Amino acid sequence: MHQDCFGLPMTAASHEAVDHYDETLRAFLGYRRDTGAHLKSALGADPDLFMGHCLRGYFFKLFTLPTLEHKARESAEKARKLSKMISARECEHLEALEAWCAGDMIECTERWERILIEHPRDILALRLAHYCHFYMGHSFAMRTSIARVLPYWAANELGGGFVRGMYAFALEENGDYGAARDTGEEAVALNPGDAWAVHAVAHVHETQGNRRDGISWLKRTEAGWKGCNNLAYHIWWHRALFHFELAEHDEVFHLYDARFRADVSEDYLDISNAVAMLWRLENNDIDVGRRWAELADKAEARISDHLLVFADLHFAIALGADKRLAALDEMIETMHSNGDGVRNTQEKVLAQVGAILTKAIRAYYLGEYVFALRLMRPIMSRVCAVGGSHAQRDLFTQLQISAALKAKKYPFARALLHERTNLRPNDIRAWKLLAEALDGEGRGREAEEARQHAEALLAA
Ligand SMILES: [Fe+2]
Repeated sequence: MHQDCFGLPMTAASHEAVDHYDETLRAFLGYRRDTGAHLKSALGADPDLFMGHCLRGYFFKLFTLPTLEHKARESAEKARKLSKMISARECEHLEALEAWCAGDMIECTERWERILIEHPRDILALRLAHYCHFYMGHSFAMRTSIARVLPYWAANELGGGFVRGMYAFALEENGDYGAARDTGEEAVALNPGDAWAVHAVAHVHETQGNRRDGISWLKRTEAGWKGCNNLAYHIWWHRALFHFELAEHDEVFHLYDARFRADVSEDYLDISNAVAMLWRLENNDIDVGRRWAELADKAEARISDHLLVFADLHFAIALGADKRLAALDEMIETMHSNGDGVRNTQEKVLAQVGAILTKAIRAYYLGEYVFALRLMRPIMSRVCAVGGSHAQRDLFTQLQISAALKAKKYPFARALLHERTNLRPNDIRAWKLLAEALDGEGRGREAEEARQHAEALLAA
């Protein structure tokens, strides 16, 4: 038995293969672009490297592309053939990969959590559990998952920084903003290349409405994250959000065109960033030109994906915004499961929340705002099931507010906006929309107060 760089026993033919595997893990944790190249070297040094094949399968699953699903399954099959002489921990990884290939995110996450009880230094299991908890909307589990293993990671070792970076994000998603910021800043100080930790602190600034602090944080840390994989685009998107809230629209378009949508990729996260920004701009009466078309082209090619409901919903908005309603109808037709008895986690979420929200998006783009609201109201408290962060799911909250205002349902819009200004007291746009709702109700004096509050926030 060999040992990986975090001290875990590992089945391998040579030290060389393990060294390359270690480099793959480090690159993966740092969202580095050379991750795949290191894995290739590991499997080149030992074509039967068991964890190498598991890792390959995991990476294909993380792409969330239907065209790569069979490659993930092939990796699982290859690992299964090599599973005669492996450890119990390695066997759990294989079981987790097989469950994930079957679409069972609950089972694979449970497998990783089981590994972590016995092997709290299995940072691969930790990162993958973090990812799946995130995309199942299980914020609290994200936090507890890391809290369980934290005592086994010293701050001054490489993995210790990455674990703190993940913990910072989990703290933020659980509303513990002070601790999230401290932990994230500590992780970045330990390792300036920890893009996820940088991102966690950006979330704190976003949620708290610290727009200028957020921009300055991302400028200050840019050298550490700008070279990483497409997480860098998501971080550029976060920076654009700060500029959007300051009404600096030229800067938003610059970041859109030159940074986070420059390579017009097919990646669901890249598309989601772009959709979430264009929607905000248009909803603020800003002309976005022809930018929807390329997003809608990508979305139209993926109407029957359903690998991640979070992605489906962004595809649906791209189709609606570009007036491709026939494609949107076709997409809805493929969302036919009732979710009963299926092992596939995302299929269940689609049946319980995703399909209804997609129908609401369709109604919204048809101008049937009252119907859109009727569909959304009973499910909005369960939207967290689609996963993603609070900042990402905020798009659906804003869509509901927009529908309420367009439907002239001013009392409901006012209630939603009081809810929003309570949760996000520094949100300039929310105060402006609250003024609009109050005006609609004929409550001119309160509307004026809300408008003045928005002006004061913008000037601050
Ligand atoms: Fe984010």
